[in-house]
Amino acid sequence: MNHSHKPAVRLNLPAYPFAELERRAAALKEAGKPVYNLSIGDPDLPPPGFVVEAARRALDEDRAHLYPSSRGDSDVRRAVAGWFEGRFGVQLDPDRQVCILIGAKEGLANIARAVVNPGDAVAVPDPAYPVYGRAGCRLVECQQVKVRLEPESGFLPNLDRIGGVKLMYLNYPNNPTGAEATDEFLAELGRFTDANPEMTVAYDMAYGEMCFNRPARSILEFTPNAVEFHSLSKMACATGYRVGFAVGEPDRISALVKVKEEIDSGAPLPFQRALSAMLDAYRDGVPPQDLIHYREIFNRRRELLVNALAKQGYDVFRSRATFYVWFKVGNDELPFISRALEKGVLFTPGSGFGPGGRGWVRASVTVPDDVVSATVSVIENLS
Ligand SMILES: Cc1ncc(COP(=O)(O)O)c(C=O)c1O
Repeated sequence: MNHSHKPAVRLNLPAYPFAELERRAAALKEAGKPVYNLSIGDPDLPPPGFVVEAARRALDEDRAHLYPSSRGDSDVRRAVAGWFEGRFGVQLDPDRQVCILIGAKEGLANIARAVVNPGDAVAVPDPAYPVYGRAGCRLVECQQVKVRLEPESGFLPNLDRIGGVKLMYLNYPNNPTGAEATDEFLAELGRFTDANPEMTVAYDMAYGEMCFNRPARSILEFTPNAVEFHSLSKMACATGYRVGFAVGEPDRISALVKVKEEIDSGAPLPFQRALSAMLDAYRDGVPPQDLIHYREIFNRRRELLVNALAKQGYDVFRSRATFYVWFKVGNDELPFISRALEKGVLFTPGSGFGPGGRGWVRASVTVPDDVVSATVSVIENLS
């Protein structure tokens, strides 16, 4: 007998915006046509060998088969604190200011459970990584206050317009735009955070190690009162390892750990060791050669695409970070997306990141070089 079941009201989320496109892409593939997928930020390159090896070795540890802890292994937390000091010059207490995560996404969702009550206001950038508005706001029954990011302001928000929120998500280097935070903006954000102690700033640095001009800076260089999120996913091309970390203000970190203790039992130890191996490979804040090599590859692919798009007259946001290219194609991006898909290239419609992304398109260069070149040919022939 079939039981029809209505899910909880809080799951009445807006329809997943890419579902129809993915159906069309799948149909093309089924018909034997190649589809180049530039719509997902999932790197094609493998993690560095020493990172994989660290995970493999850890499987032989006596404790590897036991429950890890929600806060994370103490040696790994110490590695995070050591890395943070070398990379940003900020000292952290590994026992009070560091929490290992099952990927940054988990922490970004759970921080809301830790700091808001139903009905509270949560500031969510527009456009933005959808998790903030969905898991970080709707699933915790909060009011979403959209904070528009405009190209004229380098996709940085106007903090003067934000008031009365309990939680504010921000993300630099930014998905989907590739924008970076300026030092001036971070200093202003630091002052704003200090002046609003009832508010939590959740600063997402998942792309913190993917900058091509100058290293990204941490909000914790400007204020001790924020919570910052990092991840091995994009740093080491290891999205499947599901490991990241949150750092910052001790009471909020402790509240986050409390939520996690009720829900999960921590990231598997082998992947925590992989994270530790990556962080330990930095020297005085300088990343190992493998990471520099990734940057060169992504940067080269980006340049190829940016130049091809600019040559065709598209308005490309000239960023120097992340593996995304963000470009404007008109007032509505869907006809462009549709035409590109007919020619075998799947891009992400900007409106999937919020109304502020309407008219824009995101391309992710997490595909092999020959696919980027094939995409360039498609762009050149897209009438
Ligand atoms: C802005 C942003 N934050 C966080 C994440 C999630 O990272 P993780 O794989 O560590 O959960 C992503 C993934 O695409 C992202 O784009």
